[in-house]
Amino acid sequence: MQRSTNKTNAPSIESSRIAQSIGSALDRFIKNNQNQFQYASGELSQLLRDIALASKVVNREVNKAGLIDIMGPMGTQNLGGDHQQKLDVLANIRFTRALAKGGEVCALISEESDSFVDLNNEGKYVIAIDPLDGSSNIDVNVSIGTIFSIYRRKTQPGTPIQSIDILQKGSEQVAAGYVLYGSSTMLVYTTGHGVNGFTYEPSLGEYFLSHPDLKMPEGGKIYSINEGLSNAFSKPVLDYIQYCKSQNYTARYIGSLVADFHRNMLKGGIYIYPATSKDGSGKLRLMYECNALAFISEQADGMATDGKQRILDVEIKDLHQRTAFYVGSKKMVEKAMSY
Ligand code: AHG
Ligand code: MN
Ligand code: MN
Repeated sequence: MQRSTNKTNAPSIESSRIAQSIGSALDRFIKNNQNQFQYASGELSQLLRDIALASKVVNREVNKAGLIDIMGPMGTQNLGGDHQQKLDVLANIRFTRALAKGGEVCALISEESDSFVDLNNEGKYVIAIDPLDGSSNIDVNVSIGTIFSIYRRKTQPGTPIQSIDILQKGSEQVAAGYVLYGSSTMLVYTTGHGVNGFTYEPSLGEYFLSHPDLKMPEGGKIYSINEGLSNAFSKPVLDYIQYCKSQNYTARYIGSLVADFHRNMLKGGIYIYPATSKDGSGKLRLMYECNALAFISEQADGMATDGKQRILDVEIKDLHQRTAFYVGSKKMVEKAMSY
């Protein structure tokens, strides 16, 4: 199909084609759009389906969380020093199993595993995943999520995995997405051709396209930051917060990155987790939290930076590397950067 150059604000042929697919089941949508992908051999499509399947299993467990013994702490810590919740560990198992069985992913980087997991297969893809984001909200029935980034492995499939396969910059992602277990469950993803959102219909056990070609509003009136940490913020961050207040912006902070990001993408806003005097490089993890959301935000006309450079250009030195994170509506992130 010929692509329109879309110099005006009129929807492109491509976006109206996607809009016409509202209500399509995820599987069909993935299949119909498979040819957009540079390596259209079907493996990435299968990988996305594996993620969707695992997310349905996790969704079922999240929904039952208050009824069965899967809430509360495990009594263990991950490498980042976070106290693992039972659901963190369970979600990690569900995604790892689905991806291992699927066979498209050769290596998995997870918040819950100290080192990368070699799945010992000929898969062409590497995945970085935060299986359960927003752990502190599990026990109180507030939205939580899953975040994932997908890369092509650089070395020959079937050979030992090398650090160049693992430590890839965000700009090398071939797909990324998140699942939001909220008042409804949604899967939002990009393969670098815009962002599409699917809503889960539990009685049918299927995701359906509900938010085609998502775009972030250019500006917005929501700022999301944990202001309780103000004493550890730098002056420019404090000044920007003051600016938001002077503009009568609305403060909204759920404490689940996926949920805060999703709301700001739909309504227009900025999410900030700055570096603090306590943790010089911020709290959020580059590989399995920020890169995916940075890719999605750029695909949706938004912006993501660490305060100095584009998140997607940040060199990866460590699997669990942390970063400051400013993401959301382009004009708001630009304004924050002017401070
Ligand atoms: P996780 O549950 O995967 O460890 O991530 C928690 C993250 C993120 O979801 C959230 O935005 C942020 O931590 C909240 O941190 P504060 O409680 O420090 O505000
Ligand atoms: Mn997280
Ligand atoms: Mn997590």
